[in-house]
Amino acid sequence: MPCLDKKSVTDVEVAGKKVLVRVDFNVPLKADKIKDDTRILAAVPTIRYLLKHNTSLILISHLGRPKGQRRPDLSLAPVAKRLAEILDIPVVFVDDCIGEKVNQAVSSLKSGEVLLLENLRFHPEEEKNDPEFAKKLADLADIYVNDAFGVAHRAHASTEGITHFLPSVAGFLIEKEMKALCSVIDSPRRPYVAIIGGAKVSNKIMIIESLIKKVDKLLIGGGMGNTFLAAAGYNMQTSLIEPDKIDWAREFLQTDIAKERLVLPVDLVVAAFFSADAEHRVCPVDGVPDGWQALDIGPATVDLFTTVVNSAGTIVWNGPLGAFEIKAYAEGTMAIARAVADATAFSIIGGGDSVSAVHKAGVMDRISHISTGGGASLELLGGEILPGIAALPSK
Ligand code: 3PG
Repeated sequence: MPCLDKKSVTDVEVAGKKVLVRVDFNVPLKADKIKDDTRILAAVPTIRYLLKHNTSLILISHLGRPKGQRRPDLSLAPVAKRLAEILDIPVVFVDDCIGEKVNQAVSSLKSGEVLLLENLRFHPEEEKNDPEFAKKLADLADIYVNDAFGVAHRAHASTEGITHFLPSVAGFLIEKEMKALCSVIDSPRRPYVAIIGGAKVSNKIMIIESLIKKVDKLLIGGGMGNTFLAAAGYNMQTSLIEPDKIDWAREFLQTDIAKERLVLPVDLVVAAFFSADAEHRVCPVDGVPDGWQALDIGPATVDLFTTVVNSAGTIVWNGPLGAFEIKAYAEGTMAIARAVADATAFSIIGGGDSVSAVHKAGVMDRISHISTGGGASLELLGGEILPGIAALPSK
């Protein structure tokens, strides 16, 4: 897929039209409070552009994983409120995304007005990419704009299916993300270093296998690092590992490319149990005490990773390197955030947790590109095609 050839919102006549914009408003919520509105803010340039060009806007999004059930705790209603504050105009909210109520709200929508529809994933047809459901969404508007980069790696009705029924274009966020990520895919400044953390190996196996062929060094830590250390023969005691991925990891570690490019932790911060006030200390990877667990990378690993990061031309980081939400186990992730910010490399950070770690470290403004899509950016960098973007017509 040539990286940057998609028709854009600026390539079509929008004035006087009803425009359906797929956004990714999958924001972290606590009760009905939005804990981080980065993804809402990221959609604003496209929204403002369309409003300025005399359109009426219908916004659609998912929130969380309600698995086709109506879940009041995953309603987009709080997002409508926050968006109205940001735009400083009313945002009409309808508690469904298809049906009579929605049709009525759409037909009374005037130019310059904004409507946000309820969570698409309350309907199981969304994730099944059901064509009838996609057609119902398409029937609401004249033009479809996809600006939901964070969910572009999913072939869902609102990201892929709908493009078969409406003239479709990319919004500014998708353009911005693709521009940054494609520059790395096409010609990364070398050395190209990827840092992968987070809890689970399982959903990143394919990416690890393809990414290692593209990078010069692949640094792995966090819960994911534990599984690799266990596969390398270290006794990780009660650390979080994925036992069913150890065989895969062991085979991977024996490949020539992994021997040359993979860098694993050499020491860890270990604790007696998973708690802020548990007894904890630093130990080498071959010295995890009986019954203890690894919760962060240790200072020698920070030094090792920092040396690699310092010499990098490009850095891609996805996934924290420890339980950074607890102060006692945050230093590894924070130190790497500072090292990435201090490096002269072109840096890309994606994934909710890594982005909030960088935020916590106070270095957001020194990262070249903060991606709104953790899974989407990693899949793209690993060489996958993103169905939500592939479905859009070329210029
Ligand atoms: C994300 O948060 O990564 C995107 O919104 C996609 O969500 P999903 O992983 O539930 O499809």
